[in-house]
Amino acid sequence: MYGLINVAIRDLVHSRFGEAQWEEIIAISGVDESAFIRMSPNDDAITYALVGAASEVLNLPASDVLQAFGEYWTEFTAVAGYGEMMDSAGETLPEFLENLDILHTRVGTMYPDLRPPSFSCENVTDCSLDLHYRSVREGLDDLVIGLLRGLGKRFGVSVEIEQMAAKGRESHHSVFHVQWR
Ligand code: HEM
Repeated sequence: MYGLINVAIRDLVHSRFGEAQWEEIIAISGVDESAFIRMSPNDDAITYALVGAASEVLNLPASDVLQAFGEYWTEFTAVAGYGEMMDSAGETLPEFLENLDILHTRVGTMYPDLRPPSFSCENVTDCSLDLHYRSVREGLDDLVIGLLRGLGKRFGVSVEIEQMAAKGRESHHSVFHVQWR
């Protein structure tokens, strides 16, 4: 994934836990931090190694690290030069979720090697929808849960998320039932 993702993980650890914890995460992960250039594609293995090392150093399950990162990403992108892109994706949570693919298509004009996820909304009501999440990658469902929580905060609604299906043997992709009020 693009270096931008790894830069955001570093910012999250710096701001919540401090420089010393980050240094330890880098040491354990064996990752070369100088490769973190926002606009350069990095091997996905780097991001997974950072999440694994953060889980070890911070003594948190990897699922918690991914959720915290997802929540942080919605704040980070808004202040890291993508505020206008975030603003134009929608004024309400459901509108924004419907526009996620358009958002990543716009991101792809700046990041030509982007391999973005794909989202679609089904069974939409005034207060709920089923979010279908498709990705070439594995193991990022908790990231999506964190992202949804962050988007709930962005739109000032309280969000409940129930995972209905997980990508694996039974299903080709993951599905989340999202309710807000
Ligand atoms: C302007 C805001 C955003 C930017 C600039 C952005 C950019 C990116 C980038 C660079 C990647 C890495 C993919 C790659 O390098 O191949 C990515 C992945 C991802 N993005 Fe976004 N994104 C934004 C907003 C969002 C939001 C609001 C969501 C909410 C659901 C989201 C969901 C994801 C997920 C789940 C991934 C992980 C990759 C995967 O599932 O395969 N993104 N995004």
